[in-house]
Amino acid sequence: MDCHTPLVLPSLLAADFANIASELKRAETPEVKWLHLDVMDGNFVDNISFGPAMIEAVRKNSPLFLDVHLMIHRADHYLDRFIKAGAGNISIHVEANYDTSVESTLKRIKAAGISAGLVLNPHTPFEAVVPYLHLIDLLLVMTVVPGFGGQPFMEKETMPKLTAARDYREAHGLKFHLQVDGGIYVNTAPIARKHGANLFVCGTSFFGPKNTPQTSKDLAASVAF
Ligand code: DX5
Ligand code: ZN
Repeated sequence: MDCHTPLVLPSLLAADFANIASELKRAETPEVKWLHLDVMDGNFVDNISFGPAMIEAVRKNSPLFLDVHLMIHRADHYLDRFIKAGAGNISIHVEANYDTSVESTLKRIKAAGISAGLVLNPHTPFEAVVPYLHLIDLLLVMTVVPGFGGQPFMEKETMPKLTAARDYREAHGLKFHLQVDGGIYVNTAPIARKHGANLFVCGTSFFGPKNTPQTSKDLAASVAF
């Protein structure tokens, strides 16, 4: 899949944790190919979600490509466990602390034969990720301050960075995906699409409504241009 093809990614954080197996089935719609998994350490962000054991359990119970978003410090320390658990993409934050460095962590993800992503928070300038763009397969521009689902889309702070990333990518012949995460609904996803995004993480908007086949179609249709 190239970096222009739009794709909707359900975020498991918004699923019913008491019924993960059936929630995984609910995410298997014709439109969905990737599942987004939010790992939070209660330190880099002010919330705790789940770790490698959950990724491994999901891997065994879902055919979807697993997109793992690490909102943790020392991702390099924990990296091998997430690779072993079955991640297809691992995204790390440019703002986090590392025992080694962002660069060497991205290189280790690539060396494991999987996709490497880099993430920047709403208040982090685009310039912070520029030194790493030649190393990555995916750039995630956070559209909320990470930690919790159900927050409003931060259009003003984030859309200019998406456009800057798209322009940089085209000017330098790079191919990384542009992902948005946080507050993505049928009304906000097209805004991000217009500014260059092709991967749309949908938590509350996907798992919230009961009629998932229709919800999935509507979300995919909102970015099909
Ligand atoms: C935010 C997480 C998101 C979250 C999005 O901290 O990284 O992936 O699940 O949730 P919604 O779509 O509800 O804003
Ligand atoms: Zn996320």
